[in-house]
Amino acid sequence: MSIVRDSFHTRIGFILAAAGSAIGLGNIWGFPTQAANNGGGAFLFIYLIVTLLLALPALYSEMYIGNQAQKNPVTALQEACAPKSARLGKFAGLFGLMGAILMLSFYSIVAGWMLSHALAPLSELVGFNGAAQWMETSSLGRNLIFTPIFIVLTALIIFQGIHAGIERWSSRLMPTLFVMLIGLIIYILQQPGASAGLEMYLIPDFSQLTDPRLIISAMGQAFFSLSIGVGGMMVYGSYLKKGDNLGKLVASITALDTLIAFLAGLLIIPALFVAQHNGLKVFENGVLIGEGQLIFHILPNLFDAMGEVGILVGLVFFALMSMAALTSTLSSTEVPVSYLVEDKNLSRNKATLAVSLVVLLASMTLVAFFDPLFGMIISWVNTFQLPIMGLFYFIVVGWLWSRGNRLRTEARQGDNRWIALWANYLRYVCPVLISIVFINVAFG
Ligand code: PHE
Repeated sequence: MSIVRDSFHTRIGFILAAAGSAIGLGNIWGFPTQAANNGGGAFLFIYLIVTLLLALPALYSEMYIGNQAQKNPVTALQEACAPKSARLGKFAGLFGLMGAILMLSFYSIVAGWMLSHALAPLSELVGFNGAAQWMETSSLGRNLIFTPIFIVLTALIIFQGIHAGIERWSSRLMPTLFVMLIGLIIYILQQPGASAGLEMYLIPDFSQLTDPRLIISAMGQAFFSLSIGVGGMMVYGSYLKKGDNLGKLVASITALDTLIAFLAGLLIIPALFVAQHNGLKVFENGVLIGEGQLIFHILPNLFDAMGEVGILVGLVFFALMSMAALTSTLSSTEVPVSYLVEDKNLSRNKATLAVSLVVLLASMTLVAFFDPLFGMIISWVNTFQLPIMGLFYFIVVGWLWSRGNRLRTEARQGDNRWIALWANYLRYVCPVLISIVFINVAFG
């Protein structure tokens, strides 16, 4: 039986969907926090280098494997490693799939917080002040309600498929997000105190760049930001027609993701200085006071202090965060869904339902054992899952893949000089670079 596989219909739809996966809480929360703590522009500088040298090639490799296979990530990796290492490939595919579920389990919780913070100002506007306060403060109740709501929202889009669901919704949400972000930046930059933030962000302080661990955090940040290592980008690549110029597409996705991270810094760092100007405590010994504080304490307080406009600003900000999170969970959810549909012959609806239930169960387990589990899962995914899979993609593209791998052939024959250079870079340089960084993380 061969049914036509769903696909992205336009290149721009593909770019927006993949950029939607990349652009998420990592860009708008993670990046500005790290930049604020590590010399502002200096961190930006390192981040750019790591993105170009390692994260972009890893994204390319991940998408290339999926695009060549035109199948779900588990089968794609299995086929790419066949015949000798097919089992290893399948194992890696399943390992990525597990990473996707783990990522969804914590990401859905945080996304639920964003959603509840977006609804709080709305309730305030219609006069439900009690509800608004509950949404901003009750932690367990909020997790129990908003995490499932967020998982259902993701499922509703996934149900509709690649073109009618993922592509259509990403094409609506991403431009909206962009406009909202620009609007917020313009507003914040006009507030008193903002210019000191701009200065810190745009004038790099290289004296802060003495700690080599900074490269490691920048790499973790870049991999997470480009959604590398759980198969989400691979599955998106598989829904793109073979023969499209993947290099250009990957460059556009990376550029958009980096642009949004940069713009988020332009919003958040000046906002922190505005908050400080208003008398809020923001930094202690030059370091932000607690990561969670930034989004759920400093910014809401800042918005409160802005009066009526602040309600609107808060609404726009958290709506933006929720949208960014939603387009990011789509790609990870598609990983197990595509596997169940193609390998286990489940209907798309059943597969989506099954995956959503598993994610719900996983995230409720995190809610129940929050203190021991939540931070542990996040750091596992960031420090181990993503770089290990990134390394594996390089090895597959450069070494294991024996049939039908244009890059590997190019690397050997060198017919086209640029492609040959690129192929050899992926084959020899990237695995070494990533291993050095990884060994530092694991044993440093
Ligand atoms: N890239 C997303 C972000 O920046 C997170 C993500 C990681 C999404 C892995 C999918 C897979 O927030």
